[in-house]
Amino acid sequence: MSVDQTTIAAAARALEQGLLVAFPTETVYGLGADAANPAAVAAIYAAKGRPQDHPVIVHLSPDCPLDDWAAEIPAEAHQLAAAFWPGPLTMILKRAPHVPADVSGGQDTIGLRCPSHPVAIALLQQFKGGRGGIAAPSANKFGHVSPTTAAHVHAEFDADRKVAMVLDGGASEVGIESTIVDLSRLNTHGPVLLRPGHIGAEAIAAVIDRLPAAPDQAAPRASGTLESHYAPHTPVAMQPTAMLKTTLAALQQAGRKVALVHYSDLPAAHAEVRLPAAPAGFAHALYAALRDMDGSGADLILVEAPPQDAAWLGVNDRLRRAAHGSTGIVHGLLNEVAP
Ligand code: TXA
Ligand code: MG
Repeated sequence: MSVDQTTIAAAARALEQGLLVAFPTETVYGLGADAANPAAVAAIYAAKGRPQDHPVIVHLSPDCPLDDWAAEIPAEAHQLAAAFWPGPLTMILKRAPHVPADVSGGQDTIGLRCPSHPVAIALLQQFKGGRGGIAAPSANKFGHVSPTTAAHVHAEFDADRKVAMVLDGGASEVGIESTIVDLSRLNTHGPVLLRPGHIGAEAIAAVIDRLPAAPDQAAPRASGTLESHYAPHTPVAMQPTAMLKTTLAALQQAGRKVALVHYSDLPAAHAEVRLPAAPAGFAHALYAALRDMDGSGADLILVEAPPQDAAWLGVNDRLRRAAHGSTGIVHGLLNEVAP
């Protein structure tokens, strides 16, 4: 799906006027606002129902200098930008003093990313002549599954009429949110992987010669790192294949409706989506599958647990969070049907 230049210009103007515009990126759809306009940024939080102290990512056009937004920029940031931008990598850097603290939830850092989706790039190049920043979290209500199509965004926000425009750029290619690497404490903590994604730690290490570590206690807060996030309304459980088959049989025996998200051959269920058995294809289709299964009227969404290797880290991270909030309910359900 392509968006014509007239629509891009109208969207850029809407952003310049302080309105919210949802737009496609290669990871997921973003809910955008002028990052330099605190009232517009506040409108994102209100629309999402998101706590005010959660920082948002600022999206930049490919030609925008990093020091328009960040300070004390290490050489590693330039190396990673050269290697992975435009693309699904967000870097946390020290925030430049002239940038309002609102985009960072009051923290002294800023999350920056240059997306590769052509519609996002066109919008960023048009907005404020390419020197502006578009603050954009994923275009979903706080804690819910991120949108990977324009229809998902409409389903999240049409009822409240707080979003001026939704640009339709087709299905997001990557399908899960960007990798986030913290470079703001490089001297003391080294690079830290705040959120795994399509760009893995090894790929980052190949560029900057240091392997990003797992988050420590002092690492910057990130809502995408909350234990319960990216969740459908229906309870979600993730189980390895053999266990899942037993659970499925027991639940069906007890008359429960099970929706399956799987990648190997399994018995029929109330509803199901079969995803590719490789990480990129699985990630691409995962959120749409969760949304579909959420709408199927099932009592439970059972997800076939992917392998535990590094290539699946981003997918496993999102699935674990999707399932976290419903562990109690799932326990109850499984106890009821246990033989
Ligand atoms: O792929 C993505 O990153 C998508 C698209 C739209 O670009 N955006 C996205 O935004 O996932 P959001 O807000 O749903 O998640 C951004 C994550 C949050 O967990 C947020 O807390 C973290 O980035 N973040 C942003 N700025 C930060 C900062 N200064 N320090 C620490 N974490 C930050
Ligand atoms: Mg999000």
